[in-house]
Amino acid sequence: MAKTILLPLLANGEFRSGQDLATALGVSRTAVWKQLNNLAELGLEIESVKGRGYRIPGGLDLLDAAAVQAGLQPQAAGLLAHLELLEATDSTNAEVMRQLTGGAGSGLVCSAEQQSAGRGRRGRQWVSPYGRNLYVSVAWEYQQGAAALEGLSLAVGVAVARALALCGLPPVQLKWPNDILYRGAKLGGILLEMTGDAAGACQVVVGVGLNVAMPAVAAHAIEQDWTDVQTLSGGSHPGRNQLLAALLNEVLPLLAEFEGVGFKAWKQQWTSLDAFAGAPVVVHSGASPLAGIARGVDDRGALQLETVSGIQSLYGGEISLRGAS
Ligand code: BTN
Repeated sequence: MAKTILLPLLANGEFRSGQDLATALGVSRTAVWKQLNNLAELGLEIESVKGRGYRIPGGLDLLDAAAVQAGLQPQAAGLLAHLELLEATDSTNAEVMRQLTGGAGSGLVCSAEQQSAGRGRRGRQWVSPYGRNLYVSVAWEYQQGAAALEGLSLAVGVAVARALALCGLPPVQLKWPNDILYRGAKLGGILLEMTGDAAGACQVVVGVGLNVAMPAVAAHAIEQDWTDVQTLSGGSHPGRNQLLAALLNEVLPLLAEFEGVGFKAWKQQWTSLDAFAGAPVVVHSGASPLAGIARGVDDRGALQLETVSGIQSLYGGEISLRGAS
């Protein structure tokens, strides 16, 4: 039996008795009990109340390909080559990378209910519990190498912010290079990985992680201030499938056009969302931390750090408010 066979029966958040579940699946109550344990292993909270049965508090909003496709605008639908929705994978970025090696190309989109080894920036883990958040990776092929893709990850941040606004959510901000913040807490992150010829034909995997309804048990592993769509929307948002469609509506056209226009075309929007503009910061990029005032980004997406020795352009690293731990 698949680990997740009980999920459709419990997705509405209502109590179902063990006997009822066993009858619906045509299995014994012992088998149901084992499956319930499997769900707990997935990190899903299963509430058990004597005389009422079992439920998943709040229910589940599972990914559904038809619902995602229905939310796509014609432009994004035309750019989407294949939508792959997985129950579980190590990392959707790793999965797309494997498929690129196997011959896939631009427009492959992979999302999963759960990642067992979700990758964050700078070697960190991305906390990816089952069925609650969004983990999505998109592949795109380019011809002019890495230089033409400078600033792409910042532009993806703008695309994500736009998608969230179009879903009626309150405005978010961006933290260089590409964190998505709401009131200073991390709502999402972006991880770009590249393969191929850095000076010519190459393929990029754009990974976006968005906290939608992070369960408290999973959140213990997050080592920074975080928030989720559930919190910032006060519980009223269009659901994971619509959010995913909205992300694709913004990200796919961006990827298709970026090589032609570059970050310059996105800089003004990025600047309007810059969470740290004019702030005293410390940047960890090379061997030793650099202190200065964040002065936005240039046409290539490089952070403009005003230091005692003048403006320094930084192309990668991690920024934090000076004085913040
Ligand atoms: C960050 O550290 O801020 C970047 C996080 C990126 C997470 C996403 S989730 C989908 C995709 N697959 C991964 O393994 N990572 C990215």
